[in-house]
Amino acid sequence: MDCRDGLKLIDDGMIDIVMTDIPYNISQKKSIDRSAIDSKALKRSGNKKELNFNYGKWDFFADNEAYFSFIQSVFVEVYRVMKDSASLYMWVPKNEVSFIEYILKDIGFHVRSTLVWCKTNPCPQIFKVGYMSSTEFCIFATKLPGAKHYWNIEKGQKQSFWVKPICQGNERTEHPNQKRLDIAEDMITQSARNGELLLDPFAGSGTFAIAAHNCGLKFIAFENDDKNYKIAESRVKAETSQMNLFDFIGDTE
Ligand SMILES: C[S@@+](CC[C@H](N)C(=O)[O-])C[C@H]1O[C@@H](n2cnc3c(N)ncnc32)[C@H](O)[C@@H]1O
Repeated sequence: MDCRDGLKLIDDGMIDIVMTDIPYNISQKKSIDRSAIDSKALKRSGNKKELNFNYGKWDFFADNEAYFSFIQSVFVEVYRVMKDSASLYMWVPKNEVSFIEYILKDIGFHVRSTLVWCKTNPCPQIFKVGYMSSTEFCIFATKLPGAKHYWNIEKGQKQSFWVKPICQGNERTEHPNQKRLDIAEDMITQSARNGELLLDPFAGSGTFAIAAHNCGLKFIAFENDDKNYKIAESRVKAETSQMNLFDFIGDTE
């Protein structure tokens, strides 16, 4: 369902950690022809001669104002459902980090760090006259400036960046904006404990729900695009089948 409807069903202060990856408002109707690119680079990036930047109607907004007001309306509700001690990990478009931080601060969040995923195998630049797009940004915030948030001190001091390739092999789904499970799991075990509850209002292929399950957390995730929902549903079912078995045993008692 649409997360704006779903969030209304959650009581105040229920959520221990929010991890989410918002629409980036970067979709384009036209695709990019990459036949001129050298064959090695093309092979490295999956042999796709035509690059499509139309992620779906969910990533088109009338203008920047409509986009930011959508983000603001969702995160006011996210703020309400978070515990005072909860943390937020929010993947955001690289050109809008500061403005989204401003929106979060205005809602009341305590913005603490900007985390970076440096991709070791980014999509090659077509005409080789610019930088490759090889970074993704994630804002780390907590709910209240004064309140204590959980921080796993056993993991020690952490660098604020991860150097890793884009998802490959069995982990890769058809979802165009998929994030890595291992980075999500590293973040979750830093800021949440076994048995706690994670929320992802923009589930996509279900990465953060699966990461939550792998780290011993429960999750609530929303996704309103049919195709993406099906990807998430089958992936979450496959990854959490062990949990379903226990649920089933529990149900029959
Ligand atoms: C950037 S992608 C998330 C990708 C995800 N982190 C992953 O690893 O697969 C954002 C997702 O939010 C979904 N979405 C967009 N607007 C939504 C809304 N209002 N409610 C629920 N889901 C929405 C889109 O369909 C898309 O799959």
